[in-house]
Amino acid sequence: MISGDGTIAQDWAAYSATDHATWDRLFARQARLLPGRVADEFIAGLDILRLDRPGIPDFEALSERLMRATGWQVLAVPGLVPDAVFFDHLANRRFVAGRFIRRPDQLDYLAEPDVFHDVFGHVPLLANPVFADYMQAYGIGGQRAGGLGVLHHLARLYWYTVEFGLIWGADGLRVYGAGIASSYSETLFALDDPSPHRIGIDLARIMRTPYRIDDFQQSYFVIDSFDQLLRATLDTDFGPLYAELAQSPDLTVDTLLPGDRVLHRGTQSHRSAIAGLS
Ligand code: PHE
Ligand code: FE
Repeated sequence: MISGDGTIAQDWAAYSATDHATWDRLFARQARLLPGRVADEFIAGLDILRLDRPGIPDFEALSERLMRATGWQVLAVPGLVPDAVFFDHLANRRFVAGRFIRRPDQLDYLAEPDVFHDVFGHVPLLANPVFADYMQAYGIGGQRAGGLGVLHHLARLYWYTVEFGLIWGADGLRVYGAGIASSYSETLFALDDPSPHRIGIDLARIMRTPYRIDDFQQSYFVIDSFDQLLRATLDTDFGPLYAELAQSPDLTVDTLLPGDRVLHRGTQSHRSAIAGLS
């Protein structure tokens, strides 16, 4: 049954042995790959939330631990929820997650986010107080953007931070975005491939940059710290930015601007390879 807030019971008992085994395979692969490649805060979150226990996590037990760490909970939804519902959940420190898991023959690619992407990818950083505050602030920002009709701009900020963000910390470049951290091949691509641009974060710039949903990104945006990300978004009134964006054309995904803080100028060879096929 779907309740008024769009959530459903996870129905943990309904998972099959195959479902749990799929989680375990995906988990083992990422757990081997990510140390040294993902932000240390992500690894700390796996630990705080005991996500290394076998099987698909039970959202109730997971929410209890997360609630103790940062006051967030995880609730199941049947699929994509309307924007307003999504933002209302975030603004109230509720993360909504898909409950189904991909089939064993889809380990590497699926079009819709499943429980592995949503929980393994997103939830560890919600145990970090700074990132937890960023996600809530984003929800409140989303409610405002929805009212102003500029959600397509703010959605790009989510994409290039929460989903596909990179961080340049004391130990060099790491991934933190959930879309990368839950993907074996994109973790390697985002960090090591010469093709994509890697550009220092700039809010207005990101909100002018469309994104790819069907392939690796052509540009990644890099933060210095989660504090920087939270401060930049909290201290900026997005109202004037939205007004400016209405006057400036969208960029293309592979553009570099004179004002960009370029950490790596990509060859864009991956993009060319795809274009060659079409
Ligand atoms: N400060 C933003 C605004 O004025 C809100 C926001 C916070 C947006 C965090 C994104 C992330 O709308
Ligand atoms: Fe996601």
